[in-house]
Amino acid sequence: MAMIFESHAHYDSHQFDEDREVLLGSMQENGVGTVVNICADWDSVTEVVEMVQNYPFMYSAVGLHPDEVGDLDEERFEFLKTQCQKEKVVAVGEIGLDYYWDNESHDLQKKWFVRQLELARELSLPVIIHSRDAAEDTLQIMKEHAQGLRGVIHCFSYSKELAEEYVKMGFYIGIGGVVTFKNGKKLKEVAEVVPLERILLETDCPYLAPEPYRGKRNSSIYIPHIAQAIADIKGCTCEEVVAQTEANGKELFNI
Ligand code: NI
Repeated sequence: MAMIFESHAHYDSHQFDEDREVLLGSMQENGVGTVVNICADWDSVTEVVEMVQNYPFMYSAVGLHPDEVGDLDEERFEFLKTQCQKEKVVAVGEIGLDYYWDNESHDLQKKWFVRQLELARELSLPVIIHSRDAAEDTLQIMKEHAQGLRGVIHCFSYSKELAEEYVKMGFYIGIGGVVTFKNGKKLKEVAEVVPLERILLETDCPYLAPEPYRGKRNSSIYIPHIAQAIADIKGCTCEEVVAQTEANGKELFNI
C-alpha cells in the first residue's frame, strides 16, 4: 500500500522537544512511510544525522540554510562533507538564497550556495533548494552550477512559468501547506501545471501547517490535507497523489 513520503521536515527543531519520540513513533499508523529530515543550522549538521539512525523510516539531508551560512568556514565545510557521507544521508540541503530575511550578505549566500552545489556534484547527491524572494539569482546560479544535478525546489513560492522552467531542467517541485491556504492562489496554479510525476509532498514542519491547522505547529501527519488539495486541483484521488509522490521521492533520493 502506498504511504506518504514526507520530503522536508525539521524534527530536530526545539518545538518538538516535548513529544518528539511519541510523534515520530506515530508516523506509520498515520500513513507516513518515509520522512526526510533536513538540516538548516550548524548544530543540526550533527544532530540530524544521529537522530535518523533511531528511526528506520527516516533519512537526512545535510547542508546549511542561506540564513545560517555565516557559520561556515573552510574547516567546517570539510566537516559538512564528512557528514554528507554518513549512513542515511540522501541529499545536500537545504541550500540556496533567502533575500526575504536577508540574514547574510547576498555575496556570502551565493558563495556557499555554489560551494554546496559543487559538493553535491562531487558526492553524487541530489540537492534540496531553498529560495525566497531571490528568484532571479537562484535561477542564474542553478543554470551555471546545477546542470546535470537532480533535486527539489522546496516550498516553491514563485510563478508557474518558473516552476515549468525547473521541471524542464529535471527538478522536482516541493508543495506544502500553502496549497491549502485561501490566499495560496499562485501555488495552486503551480500544482495545476506541474505534472504529478514532478511533485514532492512536504511540510517544512514545524512551520506552515495546512488548513485547518494553519498557525499551529505542523507535522507530517497533516500531509493528507496537502495531498487532498493537490488531488482536488488535478481531478484525481488523494491515493493517486500519495502513491505517485512516494514513487517520486524514492526515485529522487534513491531509497
Ligand atoms: Ni526547511
